[in-house]
Amino acid sequence: MKNLDYRFALQRITTILAVVALALVLLAALTGVALAFYYEPTAGGAYRSLEFITRDVSGGSIIRSLHDIAGNALIGVALLQLVVMFLGRQFRPSWLSAWVSGIFLVLVAIGASWTAIILDWNQTGYWRFKLEMKTIEAIPWVGESLREILTGGGVGSLAVEHMYTLHSYLLSAIALILSVLHLAALVYQERDRQQFSKTLDRLISDS
Ligand code: HEM
Repeated sequence: MKNLDYRFALQRITTILAVVALALVLLAALTGVALAFYYEPTAGGAYRSLEFITRDVSGGSIIRSLHDIAGNALIGVALLQLVVMFLGRQFRPSWLSAWVSGIFLVLVAIGASWTAIILDWNQTGYWRFKLEMKTIEAIPWVGESLREILTGGGVGSLAVEHMYTLHSYLLSAIALILSVLHLAALVYQERDRQQFSKTLDRLISDS
């Protein structure tokens, strides 16, 4: 019985973490849209516009920090959640949708952070992005084409635009869908658990 309580507690923690993950995605999306009002996705322009947001736009630096915190915390929370699910040994087939959406949410959050490497067009981001592109280029057969798709050629305005599109349209929409699906799958499991507990109580009181 104690083991069952422990697993139920872990299940509740998983659901709470899924709510936190959804809140972080919403916060990242909202602050991202706020940044987009002033952000200029071009080489050089990206750096200047973010400096302008930080220094001259009222509340700009807070919005930027919130976006940074929400985006990076999402990776941690989504990962932590998988660990809690694993500790709760939730390996029944009914948990499949929670596992699949949870794992993809982690990957998409990492993808959002990765596509943001070049978005601020500073020295670190620029050289790191160049290095990443060299690694991608080295992938046999598909490397060259993949680099071409991601950058549109060299590391310049087109690359910033490509990364910005992937980051702000594609990945953020997928993150939103996955976090909602993930939470829905966990709430479904909670309801299942409540029904199971009721049946167990009835069986105990009948015997
Ligand atoms: C679920 C949605 C999103 C996630 C998880 C996310 C995540 C991130 C992360 C991790 C960074 C890097 C922050 C850093 O470490 O400096 C970033 C930067 C950025 N994101 Fe997003 N983002 C999301 C949505 C959006 C949207 C919708 C937009 C615009 C419409 C956007 C625009 C930007 C811009 C312009 C930057 C560069 C800002 C900077 O370097 O301070 N993001 N994002």
